[in-house]
Amino acid sequence: MHSSAILRIHELPPEERAVYAKLNPERLPEHVAIIMDGNGRWAGRRLLKRFQGHQQGAKSVQLVTETASRIGLRWLTLYAFSLENNLRRPRAEVNFLMRLLRSYLESNVQRMMDNNVRIRYIGRTHDLPPEVQEKMMWAEETTARNTGTTLTLALNYGARSELVDAFRSLTAEMKHKHISPESITEEDIHRHLYTAHIPDPDLLIRTSGEMRISNFLLWQIAYAEIYVTDLLWPDFRGVHLLEAIANYQRRERRYGGLTENVGEVEENPERIRIAAG
Ligand code: FPP
Repeated sequence: MHSSAILRIHELPPEERAVYAKLNPERLPEHVAIIMDGNGRWAGRRLLKRFQGHQQGAKSVQLVTETASRIGLRWLTLYAFSLENNLRRPRAEVNFLMRLLRSYLESNVQRMMDNNVRIRYIGRTHDLPPEVQEKMMWAEETTARNTGTTLTLALNYGARSELVDAFRSLTAEMKHKHISPESITEEDIHRHLYTAHIPDPDLLIRTSGEMRISNFLLWQIAYAEIYVTDLLWPDFRGVHLLEAIANYQRRERRYGGLTENVGEVEENPERIRIAAG
């Protein structure tokens, strides 16, 4: 369904409205992706358990999503659980994250409905526990007709495995349709990514100050602007999303081209003077 976001600026708290007032609404990014990092450190600094950091992080997810929906952001993609998290974290923490995801969906689907938010997922979600998949499907179906922000949660996600999955399905298609490798285009690869239905992110935010991409949307962020903040994810709020967008709007995106105000390139070689000998 086509996304038709309705602005609800009047619902922004005053602090957020003040930052929004400085934005150019014509130049909002279409798609913001976030690497949510720092839950563990947030808890550690307060002498709390790691799981309490994740709990607080889930609150940030909801608050940031609501700000996104109020300003009419069409696509918000959050890195919620990586393949590496699944393989390398202690089982107790992974199990906690799975329970947290279920309870997050259970208690926030009504708020998503109130905010016209549609939820979707990317990743090898078929490998998640069945009871989690069930809740995910319920949330996706319940919110499927919402036309505002699409919140995409990356779950059991890794960008390299996404590319492996894409190449597997692309080669299967090629075999079926007798297509030669020379005819493969970037568009063909895009069609087979989990994100085939989503425009590439314009802005990638990472919290907790780490300068890493951590195997997130490697193909899709080719031209994304990157914004790293020292804030830990549980402290990240809608106002910080708006500040990141303000920063994005101060940048000039060139996609490998030139700026508009660059001078003409001299085309007549005879007029190019190399230091005369
Ligand atoms: C990084 O913190 C964050 C994650 C493991 C993923 C994000 C998870 C959440 C925000 C919790 C719930 C999400 C939903 C959608 C309900 P970390 O543990 O790596 O932090 P650290 O680097 O400080 O240890």
